[in-house]
Amino acid sequence: MSKPLTIADLKKLARRRVPKMFFDYADSGAWTEGTYRANEDDFSKIKLRQRVLVDMTNRSLATTMVGQKTVMPVALAPTGLTGMQHADGEMLAAKAAEEFGVPFTLSTMSICSIEDVKSVTSKPFWFQLYVMKDRGFIERLIGRAKAAGCAALVVTADLQILGQRHKDLRNGLSAPPKWTLNSAMQLATRPQWCLEMLGTKRRGFGNIVGHASNVSDLSSLSAWTAEQFDPQLSWDDIRWIKDLWGGKLIIKGILDEEDARAAADTGADALIVSNHGGRQLDGAPSSISMLPKIVDAVGDRIEVHFDGGIRSGQDVLKAVALGAKGTYIGRPFLYGLGAMGKEGVTTALDIIRKEMDITMALCGKRDIADCGKNILASQPF
Ligand SMILES: Cc1cc2nc3c(=O)[nH]c(=O)nc-3n(C[C@H](O)[C@H](O)[C@H](O)COP(=O)(O)O)c2cc1C
Repeated sequence: MSKPLTIADLKKLARRRVPKMFFDYADSGAWTEGTYRANEDDFSKIKLRQRVLVDMTNRSLATTMVGQKTVMPVALAPTGLTGMQHADGEMLAAKAAEEFGVPFTLSTMSICSIEDVKSVTSKPFWFQLYVMKDRGFIERLIGRAKAAGCAALVVTADLQILGQRHKDLRNGLSAPPKWTLNSAMQLATRPQWCLEMLGTKRRGFGNIVGHASNVSDLSSLSAWTAEQFDPQLSWDDIRWIKDLWGGKLIIKGILDEEDARAAADTGADALIVSNHGGRQLDGAPSSISMLPKIVDAVGDRIEVHFDGGIRSGQDVLKAVALGAKGTYIGRPFLYGLGAMGKEGVTTALDIIRKEMDITMALCGKRDIADCGKNILASQPF
Protein backbone atom coordinates (compact mmCIF):
# COMPACT_ATOMS: atom_id res chain seq x y z
CA MET A 1 0.00 0.00 0.00
CA SER A 2 1.23 3.53 -0.74
CA LYS A 3 1.38 6.15 2.02
CA PRO A 4 -1.68 5.83 4.29
CA LEU A 5 -4.10 8.71 3.72
CA THR A 6 -6.89 7.72 6.07
CA ILE A 7 -7.40 5.95 9.38
CA ALA A 8 -9.03 3.15 7.35
CA ASP A 9 -5.71 2.72 5.47
CA LEU A 10 -3.88 2.33 8.79
CA LYS A 11 -6.48 -0.20 9.93
CA LYS A 12 -5.86 -2.32 6.80
CA LEU A 13 -2.10 -2.28 7.43
CA ALA A 14 -2.52 -3.13 11.11
CA ARG A 15 -4.71 -6.12 10.26
CA ARG A 16 -1.83 -7.50 8.15
CA ARG A 17 0.83 -6.93 10.79
CA VAL A 18 -0.73 -7.64 14.19
CA PRO A 19 -1.67 -11.19 15.32
CA LYS A 20 -5.41 -11.78 15.03
CA MET A 21 -6.15 -11.93 18.77
CA PHE A 22 -4.68 -8.45 19.34
CA PHE A 23 -6.02 -6.86 16.17
CA ASP A 24 -9.47 -8.19 17.09
CA TYR A 25 -9.06 -6.98 20.68
CA ALA A 26 -8.83 -3.44 19.26
CA ASP A 27 -11.46 -3.90 16.58
CA SER A 28 -14.21 -5.29 18.78
CA GLY A 29 -17.29 -4.17 20.64
CA ALA A 30 -19.49 -5.92 23.15
CA TRP A 31 -22.04 -8.57 22.02
CA THR A 32 -23.65 -7.56 18.70
CA GLU A 33 -21.25 -4.59 18.35
CA GLY A 34 -24.28 -2.40 17.61
CA THR A 35 -23.11 0.48 19.81
CA TYR A 36 -19.58 0.17 18.40
CA ARG A 37 -20.98 0.61 14.87
CA ALA A 38 -23.37 3.40 15.92
CA ASN A 39 -20.45 5.38 17.40
CA GLU A 40 -18.93 5.63 13.92
CA ASP A 41 -22.13 5.75 11.84
CA ASP A 42 -23.86 8.55 13.74
CA PHE A 43 -21.15 11.04 12.83
CA SER A 44 -22.23 10.87 9.19
CA LYS A 45 -25.73 12.09 10.16
CA ILE A 46 -24.29 15.47 11.16
CA LYS A 47 -23.84 17.84 8.22
CA LEU A 48 -21.32 20.66 7.95
CA ARG A 49 -22.07 24.18 6.78
CA GLN A 50 -20.07 25.20 3.70
CA ARG A 51 -18.99 28.85 3.66
CA VAL A 52 -17.12 30.72 0.92
CA LEU A 53 -15.18 33.91 0.24
CA VAL A 54 -13.96 34.42 3.77
CA ASP A 55 -10.35 34.85 4.91
CA MET A 56 -8.85 31.40 5.49
CA THR A 57 -5.29 32.36 6.38
CA ASN A 58 -3.46 31.74 9.68
CA ARG A 59 -5.61 28.96 11.03
CA SER A 60 -5.21 27.57 14.54
CA LEU A 61 -6.46 24.33 16.09
CA ALA A 62 -4.63 24.95 19.37
CA THR A 63 -6.65 24.79 22.58
CA THR A 64 -6.47 23.47 26.15
CA MET A 65 -7.82 20.37 27.88
CA VAL A 66 -8.07 20.70 31.69
CA GLY A 67 -5.80 23.69 31.38
CA GLN A 68 -3.09 21.85 29.45
CA LYS A 69 -2.10 23.23 26.06
CA THR A 70 -2.62 20.92 23.10
CA VAL A 71 -1.99 21.61 19.41
CA MET A 72 -5.46 20.32 18.60
CA PRO A 73 -8.41 19.15 20.73
CA VAL A 74 -7.34 15.51 20.56
CA ALA A 75 -5.70 13.29 23.17
CA LEU A 76 -4.71 9.63 22.97
CA ALA A 77 -7.29 7.57 24.89
CA PRO A 78 -6.20 5.04 27.50
CA THR A 79 -6.11 1.59 25.92
CA GLY A 80 -5.19 -1.67 27.60
CA LEU A 81 -2.59 -4.06 26.14
CA THR A 82 -1.24 -1.39 23.80
CA GLY A 83 2.18 -3.02 24.02
CA MET A 84 0.64 -6.01 22.25
CA GLN A 85 -0.25 -3.99 19.12
CA HIS A 86 3.47 -3.31 18.81
CA ALA A 87 6.43 -4.09 21.09
CA ASP A 88 6.79 -1.32 23.71
CA GLY A 89 3.64 0.24 22.25
CA GLU A 90 2.80 2.58 25.13
CA MET A 91 6.33 4.03 25.17
CA LEU A 92 6.21 4.61 21.39
CA ALA A 93 2.73 6.16 21.47
CA ALA A 94 3.62 8.42 24.40
CA LYS A 95 6.70 9.67 22.56
CA ALA A 96 4.71 10.26 19.37
CA ALA A 97 2.06 12.21 21.31
CA GLU A 98 4.66 14.29 23.12
CA GLU A 99 6.44 15.21 19.89
CA PHE A 100 3.13 16.04 18.20
CA GLY A 101 1.94 18.14 21.14
CA VAL A 102 -1.13 16.26 22.34
CA PRO A 103 -1.80 14.51 25.68
CA PHE A 104 -1.14 10.78 26.05
CA THR A 105 -3.16 8.76 28.58
CA LEU A 106 -1.61 5.57 29.96
CA SER A 107 -4.05 2.79 30.91
CA THR A 108 -3.87 0.92 34.22
CA MET A 109 -3.95 -2.22 32.04
CA SER A 110 -0.96 -1.22 29.94
CA ILE A 111 1.96 -3.46 29.07
CA CYS A 112 4.64 -0.79 29.65
CA SER A 113 4.51 0.55 33.21
CA ILE A 114 4.10 4.13 34.45
CA GLU A 115 7.84 4.15 35.12
CA ASP A 116 8.66 2.82 31.62
CA VAL A 117 6.66 5.64 29.99
CA LYS A 118 8.17 8.20 32.34
CA SER A 119 11.66 7.00 31.34
CA VAL A 120 11.14 7.90 27.65
CA THR A 121 9.13 11.13 27.94
CA SER A 122 10.08 14.58 29.11
CA LYS A 123 6.63 16.16 29.50
CA PRO A 124 3.91 14.97 31.88
CA PHE A 125 1.50 12.34 30.53
CA TRP A 126 -1.93 11.41 31.94
CA PHE A 127 -2.78 8.25 33.85
CA GLN A 128 -6.05 6.29 33.67
CA LEU A 129 -7.20 4.52 36.80
CA TYR A 130 -9.31 1.38 37.12
CA VAL A 131 -10.44 0.97 40.70
CA MET A 132 -9.88 -2.45 42.20
CA LYS A 133 -11.08 -3.94 45.45
CA ASP A 134 -7.56 -3.79 46.89
CA ARG A 135 -7.56 -0.12 47.95
CA GLY A 136 -3.97 -0.39 49.20
CA PHE A 137 -2.92 -1.20 45.64
CA ILE A 138 -4.94 1.76 44.32
CA GLU A 139 -3.24 4.10 46.81
CA ARG A 140 0.17 2.84 45.67
CA LEU A 141 -0.82 3.17 42.00
CA ILE A 142 -1.94 6.78 42.51
CA GLY A 143 1.32 7.40 44.40
CA ARG A 144 3.31 6.04 41.43
CA ALA A 145 1.38 8.28 38.99
CA LYS A 146 2.14 11.27 41.23
CA ALA A 147 5.81 10.30 41.49
CA ALA A 148 5.98 10.12 37.67
CA GLY A 149 4.59 13.66 37.50
CA CYS A 150 1.37 12.70 35.67
CA ALA A 151 -0.63 15.85 34.94
CA ALA A 152 -4.14 14.40 35.11
CA LEU A 153 -5.86 11.32 36.51
CA VAL A 154 -8.61 9.81 34.36
CA VAL A 155 -10.89 7.58 36.46
CA THR A 156 -12.84 5.14 34.34
CA ALA A 157 -16.36 4.60 35.66
CA ASP A 158 -17.91 2.32 33.04
CA LEU A 159 -15.91 -0.89 33.41
CA GLN A 160 -16.32 -2.37 36.85
CA ILE A 161 -17.72 -5.45 35.12
CA LEU A 162 -16.42 -6.44 31.68
CA GLY A 163 -18.86 -6.36 28.73
CA GLN A 164 -18.58 -9.64 26.85
CA ARG A 165 -16.61 -9.39 23.62
CA HIS A 166 -17.12 -12.53 21.61
CA LYS A 167 -13.97 -12.18 19.50
CA ASP A 168 -11.70 -12.09 22.55
CA LEU A 169 -13.24 -15.24 23.96
CA ARG A 170 -13.06 -17.08 20.64
CA ASN A 171 -9.44 -16.01 20.05
CA GLY A 172 -8.34 -16.99 23.56
CA LEU A 173 -6.97 -13.47 24.16
CA SER A 174 -4.20 -13.31 26.77
CA ALA A 175 -1.07 -11.28 27.38
CA PRO A 176 1.42 -12.71 26.77
CA PRO A 177 -0.30 -15.17 24.39
CA LYS A 178 -0.75 -18.67 25.81
CA TRP A 179 0.70 -21.48 23.71
CA THR A 180 -2.16 -23.23 21.96
CA LEU A 181 -2.48 -24.44 18.37
CA ASN A 182 -4.76 -21.47 17.68
CA SER A 183 -2.37 -18.85 19.08
CA ALA A 184 0.68 -20.52 17.50
CA MET A 185 -0.98 -20.22 14.09
CA GLN A 186 -1.87 -16.57 14.73
CA LEU A 187 1.72 -15.77 15.67
CA ALA A 188 3.36 -17.84 12.92
CA THR A 189 1.75 -15.66 10.27
CA ARG A 190 3.07 -12.43 11.84
CA PRO A 191 6.87 -13.01 12.02
CA GLN A 192 7.83 -9.32 12.13
CA TRP A 193 5.60 -8.73 15.16
CA CYS A 194 7.11 -11.82 16.86
CA LEU A 195 10.67 -10.67 16.21
CA GLU A 196 9.99 -7.23 17.66
CA MET A 197 8.23 -8.78 20.65
CA LEU A 198 11.23 -11.04 21.30
CA GLY A 199 13.35 -7.90 21.43
CA THR A 200 11.52 -6.46 24.45
CA LYS A 201 11.09 -7.72 27.99
CA ARG A 202 7.70 -5.98 28.31
CA ARG A 203 5.09 -8.63 27.64
CA GLY A 204 2.91 -8.63 30.78
CA PHE A 205 0.83 -6.02 32.61
CA GLY A 206 3.60 -3.65 33.73
CA ASN A 207 1.57 -1.66 36.27
CA ILE A 208 0.28 -4.75 38.02
CA VAL A 209 2.84 -7.55 37.96
CA GLY A 210 5.10 -7.26 40.98
CA HIS A 211 2.92 -4.50 42.47
CA ALA A 212 -0.49 -6.06 43.25
CA SER A 213 -0.78 -8.88 45.75
CA ASN A 214 -2.79 -12.08 45.24
CA VAL A 215 -2.78 -11.86 41.46
CA SER A 216 -3.69 -15.34 40.36
CA ASP A 217 -4.46 -15.19 36.63
CA LEU A 218 -3.40 -11.93 35.11
CA SER A 219 -2.93 -13.22 31.58
CA SER A 220 -6.70 -13.55 31.20
CA LEU A 221 -8.09 -10.05 31.24
CA SER A 222 -11.66 -11.20 31.71
CA ALA A 223 -10.83 -13.49 34.65
CA TRP A 224 -8.69 -10.85 36.31
CA THR A 225 -11.29 -8.10 35.88
CA ALA A 226 -14.00 -10.30 37.37
CA GLU A 227 -11.77 -11.13 40.33
CA GLN A 228 -10.17 -7.75 41.08
CA PHE A 229 -12.28 -4.83 39.81
CA ASP A 230 -14.61 -3.37 42.43
CA PRO A 231 -18.28 -3.71 41.38
CA GLN A 232 -19.30 -1.51 44.34
CA LEU A 233 -17.43 1.57 43.08
CA SER A 234 -19.51 4.65 43.94
CA TRP A 235 -19.50 8.47 43.76
CA ASP A 236 -18.11 8.48 47.33
CA ASP A 237 -15.05 6.59 46.05
CA ILE A 238 -14.56 9.27 43.39
CA ARG A 239 -14.38 11.86 46.18
CA TRP A 240 -11.85 9.68 48.05
CA ILE A 241 -9.74 9.40 44.88
CA LYS A 242 -10.01 13.14 44.25
CA ASP A 243 -8.62 13.92 47.72
CA LEU A 244 -5.89 11.31 47.44
CA TRP A 245 -4.81 12.53 43.98
CA GLY A 246 -5.08 16.27 44.61
CA GLY A 247 -4.57 17.20 40.94
CA LYS A 248 -6.61 17.45 37.73
CA LEU A 249 -9.31 14.79 37.76
CA ILE A 250 -11.28 13.52 34.75
CA ILE A 251 -14.22 11.10 35.04
CA LYS A 252 -14.51 8.81 32.02
CA GLY A 253 -17.53 6.85 30.84
CA ILE A 254 -20.47 9.26 31.27
CA LEU A 255 -23.38 8.65 28.88
CA ASP A 256 -26.35 9.91 30.87
CA GLU A 257 -27.45 13.39 31.90
CA GLU A 258 -28.08 12.44 35.53
CA ASP A 259 -24.62 10.87 35.82
CA ALA A 260 -23.15 13.96 34.16
CA ARG A 261 -24.69 16.19 36.83
CA ALA A 262 -23.36 13.85 39.55
CA ALA A 263 -19.90 14.07 37.96
CA ALA A 264 -20.08 17.87 38.04
CA ASP A 265 -21.13 17.71 41.71
CA THR A 266 -17.86 15.95 42.61
CA GLY A 267 -15.89 19.03 41.56
CA ALA A 268 -13.89 17.01 39.00
CA ASP A 269 -12.23 19.06 36.27
CA ALA A 270 -13.72 17.21 33.30
CA LEU A 271 -15.96 14.33 32.33
CA ILE A 272 -15.63 12.22 29.21
CA VAL A 273 -18.81 11.39 27.32
CA SER A 274 -17.97 7.81 26.43
CA ASN A 275 -19.40 4.32 26.11
CA HIS A 276 -15.92 2.80 26.13
CA GLY A 277 -15.85 2.62 22.35
CA GLY A 278 -18.92 0.35 22.32
CA ARG A 279 -17.05 -2.27 24.33
CA GLN A 280 -19.27 -2.29 27.42
CA LEU A 281 -23.08 -1.80 27.25
CA ASP A 282 -24.08 -2.89 23.78
CA GLY A 283 -27.44 -1.28 22.98
CA ALA A 284 -26.45 2.01 24.60
CA PRO A 285 -26.73 5.11 22.36
CA SER A 286 -23.74 6.32 20.37
CA SER A 287 -21.46 8.75 22.21
CA ILE A 288 -21.99 11.56 19.72
CA SER A 289 -25.80 11.35 20.02
CA MET A 290 -25.51 11.92 23.80
CA LEU A 291 -22.93 14.71 23.68
CA PRO A 292 -25.29 17.72 23.17
CA LYS A 293 -27.66 16.48 25.90
CA ILE A 294 -24.81 16.15 28.38
CA VAL A 295 -23.40 19.55 27.47
CA ASP A 296 -26.86 21.04 28.14
CA ALA A 297 -27.15 19.15 31.43
CA VAL A 298 -23.89 20.44 32.95
CA GLY A 299 -23.48 23.84 31.30
CA ASP A 300 -20.11 25.27 32.28
CA ARG A 301 -19.92 23.50 35.67
CA ILE A 302 -17.40 20.98 34.30
CA GLU A 303 -15.35 20.65 31.11
CA VAL A 304 -16.95 18.16 28.73
CA HIS A 305 -14.68 15.85 26.78
CA PHE A 306 -15.72 13.22 24.27
CA ASP A 307 -14.67 9.89 22.78
CA GLY A 308 -16.09 7.11 20.63
CA GLY A 309 -16.14 6.59 16.89
CA ILE A 310 -13.79 9.37 15.80
CA ARG A 311 -12.19 8.25 12.54
CA SER A 312 -11.34 11.59 10.96
CA GLY A 313 -10.60 15.22 11.69
CA GLN A 314 -14.13 16.00 10.55
CA ASP A 315 -15.47 13.85 13.39
CA VAL A 316 -13.36 15.79 15.90
CA LEU A 317 -14.68 19.06 14.51
CA LYS A 318 -18.28 17.84 14.77
CA ALA A 319 -17.75 16.86 18.42
CA VAL A 320 -16.20 20.27 19.13
CA ALA A 321 -19.15 21.96 17.37
CA LEU A 322 -21.50 20.06 19.69
CA GLY A 323 -19.71 21.34 22.77
CA ALA A 324 -16.72 19.06 23.45
CA LYS A 325 -13.73 20.99 24.78
CA GLY A 326 -11.51 18.07 23.82
CA THR A 327 -11.70 14.59 22.33
CA TYR A 328 -9.82 11.29 22.58
CA ILE A 329 -8.98 8.73 19.92
CA GLY A 330 -8.60 5.04 20.77
CA ARG A 331 -8.61 2.75 17.74
CA PRO A 332 -7.24 5.33 15.26
CA PHE A 333 -3.92 5.50 17.11
CA LEU A 334 -3.89 1.77 17.85
CA TYR A 335 -4.22 1.01 14.13
CA GLY A 336 -1.38 3.42 13.43
CA LEU A 337 0.76 1.78 16.11
CA GLY A 338 0.03 -1.74 14.87
CA ALA A 339 0.69 -0.71 11.27
CA MET A 340 3.91 1.27 11.65
CA GLY A 341 4.92 1.66 15.30
CA LYS A 342 5.65 5.19 16.50
CA GLU A 343 5.56 6.59 12.95
CA GLY A 344 2.08 5.15 12.55
CA VAL A 345 0.81 7.00 15.65
CA THR A 346 2.25 10.23 14.26
CA THR A 347 0.63 9.45 10.91
CA ALA A 348 -2.77 8.91 12.58
CA LEU A 349 -2.48 12.24 14.40
CA ASP A 350 -1.34 13.99 11.23
CA ILE A 351 -4.21 12.58 9.16
CA ILE A 352 -6.68 13.84 11.77
CA ARG A 353 -5.00 17.23 12.06
CA LYS A 354 -4.98 17.86 8.30
CA GLU A 355 -8.61 16.79 7.88
CA MET A 356 -9.68 19.02 10.75
CA ASP A 357 -7.72 22.00 9.49
CA ILE A 358 -9.03 21.86 5.91
CA THR A 359 -12.59 21.19 7.07
CA MET A 360 -12.48 24.15 9.45
CA ALA A 361 -11.32 26.38 6.58
CA LEU A 362 -14.08 25.12 4.27
CA CYS A 363 -16.58 25.91 7.04
CA GLY A 364 -15.24 29.46 6.94
CA LYS A 365 -13.41 29.45 10.29
CA ARG A 366 -9.80 30.15 11.21
CA ASP A 367 -9.78 29.34 14.91
CA ILE A 368 -11.07 26.21 16.62
CA ALA A 369 -12.43 28.46 19.39
CA ASP A 370 -14.97 29.86 16.89
CA CYS A 371 -16.31 26.43 15.87
CA GLY A 372 -19.65 25.86 17.53
CA LYS A 373 -23.06 24.91 16.22
CA ASN A 374 -22.50 27.75 13.72
CA ILE A 375 -20.42 25.36 11.55
CA LEU A 376 -23.19 22.76 11.31
CA ALA A 377 -25.81 22.67 8.54
CA SER A 378 -27.87 20.13 10.45
CA GLN A 379 -27.51 17.87 13.43
CA PRO A 380 -30.08 15.24 14.35
CA PHE A 381 -29.34 14.86 18.07
C1 LIG B 1 -8.29 -1.93 22.54
C2 LIG B 1 -8.92 -0.98 23.49
C3 LIG B 1 -8.55 -1.02 24.82
C4 LIG B 1 -9.13 -0.11 25.73
N1 LIG B 1 -8.70 -0.11 27.03
C5 LIG B 1 -9.15 0.84 27.87
C6 LIG B 1 -8.60 0.96 29.17
O1 LIG B 1 -7.71 0.23 29.55
N2 LIG B 1 -9.11 1.94 29.97
C7 LIG B 1 -10.11 2.79 29.56
O2 LIG B 1 -10.54 3.64 30.33
N3 LIG B 1 -10.61 2.69 28.32
C8 LIG B 1 -10.16 1.76 27.46
N4 LIG B 1 -10.64 1.71 26.19
C9 LIG B 1 -11.62 2.70 25.73
C10 LIG B 1 -10.93 3.93 25.16
O3 LIG B 1 -10.29 4.67 26.17
C11 LIG B 1 -11.92 4.86 24.46
O4 LIG B 1 -13.00 5.12 25.32
C12 LIG B 1 -12.43 4.28 23.14
O5 LIG B 1 -11.42 3.58 22.48
C13 LIG B 1 -12.93 5.41 22.25
O6 LIG B 1 -13.47 4.92 21.08
P1 LIG B 1 -12.66 4.81 19.69
O7 LIG B 1 -11.77 3.59 19.82
O8 LIG B 1 -13.75 4.60 18.70
O9 LIG B 1 -11.87 6.07 19.51
C14 LIG B 1 -10.10 0.81 25.27
C15 LIG B 1 -10.45 0.83 23.92
C16 LIG B 1 -9.87 -0.04 23.03
C17 LIG B 1 -10.26 0.03 21.59
